[in-house]
Amino acid sequence: MKIEIKDLYFTYPTGVEALRGISLTVESGEQVAIVGQNGAGKTTLVKHLNGLLLPTRGQVKIGGWDTTKYPVAKLASRVGYVFQNPDEQLFSRNVGMEVAFGPKNLGFDAERVEALVNDALVLTQLADKTETNPYDLSATWRKMVALASILSMDTDILIFDEPTTGQDAVNVARIAHVIAELRKRGKTVITITHDIDFCAENFERVIAMSQGKILLDGRTNDVLGREEILASTYVDPPQLTRLGKRLGFKNTVRNQEEFLNALKK
Ligand SMILES: Nc1ncnc2c1ncn2[C@@H]1O[C@H](COP(=O)(O)OP(=O)(O)OP(=O)(O)O)[C@@H](O)[C@H]1O
Ligand SMILES: [Mg+2]
Repeated sequence: MKIEIKDLYFTYPTGVEALRGISLTVESGEQVAIVGQNGAGKTTLVKHLNGLLLPTRGQVKIGGWDTTKYPVAKLASRVGYVFQNPDEQLFSRNVGMEVAFGPKNLGFDAERVEALVNDALVLTQLADKTETNPYDLSATWRKMVALASILSMDTDILIFDEPTTGQDAVNVARIAHVIAELRKRGKTVITITHDIDFCAENFERVIAMSQGKILLDGRTNDVLGREEILASTYVDPPQLTRLGKRLGFKNTVRNQEEFLNALKK
């Protein structure tokens, strides 16, 4: 399902101009990371994808649906959004109910709901916690519950807002595994992240934002190679990318494998 954003501007009621002319297309099944300094407008941008925010000017289309013409409840069948802060999202008494709420709300039959809930719980390794109150879980696991409760809705498009913030290495690997599985299933994934290594390891396309605009948009290696432009939005390329550059590698490298291959040449 294609995402088309045309010349999008958004101003908050307070007068803050958070988006200032964003144009962007994401093809069905693409996986994209969005990076950029605090306040760049990343969250404001993704909140336009499921109609939580509507353009002040410009247009957002999800699989041909103009977001101003469809209610949020309807858009929820196409776009799942995992909040930056899970506490804004969770409200059920236990994990099982939380994860079942979305697909039930979309009107799926009981059998489908059960299958989707089980799948989401297994993917996020929460299957042994269905009876637990989300608020008795650690903040890291609450984030996984928030993730599971969106996965279970089986939307074509999934948005993750800072999924790895505050997560330990094991949970970061769990999240990477979920994203890899979604890739296999042909889902479109847009992930906002401050974790540049996570971005380099898991995404083929990166968008860098600054002050409500897109600064760079392209293949991960190409974007990470633009060290000076990234610095203007306070993003440092991965350590290995910078080291490769200082060693004079012809091509930008982004992980150990690419670094070692370049070293051998
Ligand atoms: N509800 C709001 N009301 C008024 N201004 C807001 C609101 N939410 C965000 N802003 C402002 O809009 C701009 C963009 O904020 P946004 O949250 O989209 O940035 P971000 O890139 O997601 O930042 P972060 O990395 O800190 O999450 C900032 O100047 C921010 O202060
Ligand atoms: Mg944000």
